[in-house]
Amino acid sequence: MRIDIITCLPKLLDSFFAHSILQRAQQGGYVTVAVHDLRDYTLDKHRRVDDYAFGGGAGMVMQIEPIARCIRSLQAERSYDEIIYMTPDGERLNQKTANTLSLGQNLIILCGHYKGVDERARELFITKEISIGDYVLSGGELAACVLSDAIIRLLPGVLNDETSALTDSFQDNLLAPPVYTRPAEFEGHQVPAILLSGHEAKIDEWRYEQALARTQARRPDLLE
Ligand code: ADE
Repeated sequence: MRIDIITCLPKLLDSFFAHSILQRAQQGGYVTVAVHDLRDYTLDKHRRVDDYAFGGGAGMVMQIEPIARCIRSLQAERSYDEIIYMTPDGERLNQKTANTLSLGQNLIILCGHYKGVDERARELFITKEISIGDYVLSGGELAACVLSDAIIRLLPGVLNDETSALTDSFQDNLLAPPVYTRPAEFEGHQVPAILLSGHEAKIDEWRYEQALARTQARRPDLLE
């Protein structure tokens, strides 16, 4: 898979992708993440990518020309499954969307800033608009990191344990059950005996019951 991220703050993204699972996923050849500085696509001598809003009002608007130039130069290289715009008024990200996107080959993610992008950029280029929650961030970069992480960890081979992503919370619409590691006793608090029993079928059953109970208590909406 290849993910092209378009931003006017590329440095914000660099360190995020340079560590842990996301770094290993790239080194292992499972994903290529390319960050593109929108300012490289402006013809303005001051490298400006935003301007005042027509009709007045506070806040700058990201201009369509650099966005168009950047997206078109990427499209000249390959075709894209989705061109995604991160925005608080997009569809709310969930595991199902991450699963679906992880099946694609090439994605573009556009990060908004200021008061957002010129509406025509959304109409002409964007195929999917995604929000990571009902709150407003200073820019789409963090949201792009969240989306990329949710997708990349699902790519076959990225996680060491093949089943690891399948047992995450939200796969099967269930929250994950509680997990424990050594020591088996901490200040009088014991790990549930069943987990030490070695009885695989009973452990699976216990985990399923715990997941169900936890989902019922915390996120009953997932069971509806
Ligand atoms: N940009 C600003 N806020 C955002 C949000 N909640 N989700 C996605 N992109 C955003």
